[in-house]
Amino acid sequence: MKEKKVYIETLGCQMNKSDAERMYGMLEHVGYTQTEDPKSADMLIINTCSIRQLSEDKAYSQIGVWGKWRGRGKDKKDYPKIVFAGCVAQQGGGNVLKRAPYVDLVLGTQRLYELPNLVKRIENGERIVSIDEKPYEESDIQINRVKGVNAWVPIMEGCNNFCTYCIVPYTRGRERSRNPKLILAEIKKALSEGYKEITLLGQNVDSFGKDLPEGQNLSWLLRQINAIEGKFRVRFVTNYPTDITDEVIDTVIELDKVCEYFHIPMQSGDDYVLKKMNRRYDYATYKKICDHIRTRIPDVTITSDFIAGFPGETEEQFQNTLNAMTELELDYSNTAAYSPRERTVAAKWVDKYIPEDVKSDRLARLNEHNRTCCLASNKKYIGREMEILIENYEVRKNGNKVITGRTRNNKIVHIPCERDLTGEFVNVKITNARTWYLNGELI
Ligand code: SAH
Ligand code: SF4
Ligand code: F3S
Repeated sequence: MKEKKVYIETLGCQMNKSDAERMYGMLEHVGYTQTEDPKSADMLIINTCSIRQLSEDKAYSQIGVWGKWRGRGKDKKDYPKIVFAGCVAQQGGGNVLKRAPYVDLVLGTQRLYELPNLVKRIENGERIVSIDEKPYEESDIQINRVKGVNAWVPIMEGCNNFCTYCIVPYTRGRERSRNPKLILAEIKKALSEGYKEITLLGQNVDSFGKDLPEGQNLSWLLRQINAIEGKFRVRFVTNYPTDITDEVIDTVIELDKVCEYFHIPMQSGDDYVLKKMNRRYDYATYKKICDHIRTRIPDVTITSDFIAGFPGETEEQFQNTLNAMTELELDYSNTAAYSPRERTVAAKWVDKYIPEDVKSDRLARLNEHNRTCCLASNKKYIGREMEILIENYEVRKNGNKVITGRTRNNKIVHIPCERDLTGEFVNVKITNARTWYLNGELI
């Protein structure tokens, strides 16, 4: 039998990228090898994101292209098989088939592990929608990770917060923790394969353990991981501001492998907007949390997310966001213009929508502010000696040989170097700071 090939296109966040690695692993067991060339694939999978309208549109336009490839060539009537997975699938369900009749399988986020069984059925010509919100039980599966230094490991999935702008609670379901035994086994396996950095993933990592026996929380998990032998780093994303416990801060200080880095989305610096967003804190509370972490953990990097042009946001309220970014000396922020999402509360406030030109102007100013903050943050490190984990080596067009890596606090550093040191920990002196990275030299 001819070897079958599968190609996966991934949009969206790290959770989706991690899901793709799991899909490749599971599919290998039912006879599919990974290809980088979609045109040669017997099965095409799109792993979709619905956080903004733009990402959703991208998913549909991509399968539109794939749909045209269907049935080309002899004996290929209903090939390549097309699978629509991820967050837009969860949300769209049967409507995806109506919109794109050439799709064979709509696979919801909570049905990921059902994939091998479903693939057999679509090979027999069935068309299936599997978006049940009851998670399909996870088993110990093979994971075909992207080669490199960092391994993503989901520790929880879902969200109970229902921020008024956000689709995630509808696409990823309610919060649930993964089985710690599976998490730890997965980490040990990744380390044995040579990965040097473990990034724990979850929409709200602080909620890890809430559905597990007493005592099993994020700090407990970090301690279990830290006890694994060998030199490696551990990170975790994303934190919800008011859910970060002192115990977690203590573990970051205490444990040598856990890095000094927090991603804590603030969304807005204005109390009224925060209330309308259904975030459970005001600016003063966020500031207190931020100050507390910075006081206790020197050199900690704190990054954030902001939305520009939330319905009803006034210029003055937007200014509070800019001021917050500066006052808190945030090291980096992801930014986005508000995008109305179906089913969410804020999407119904149509009369409060901010005109597109105002939104994009605010986004541009937010980005400008972000650049200023990043540069200021990076400049603090000039002259400092730092430990870098090397992720990449390249020979540039001008012949310069450069290695790139990250500090513990997640700053990117470029270093001239004759040798490929990918995967190694090196000590570096920081010589210069740019907006998005630092320059350094080996010491
Ligand atoms: N669970 C994380 C983030 C999940 S979504 C948290 O609570 O922070 C990632 C980011 O996308 C959010 O932090 C938010 O800034 C952005 N986002 C979510 N919904 C959005 C929308 N409707 N329009 C624009 N940006 C949005
Ligand atoms: Fe979305 Fe809010 Fe949940 Fe984050 S906490 S995933 S922004 S609903
Ligand atoms: Fe997008 Fe779903 Fe991630 S909506 S950001 S792929 S959780």
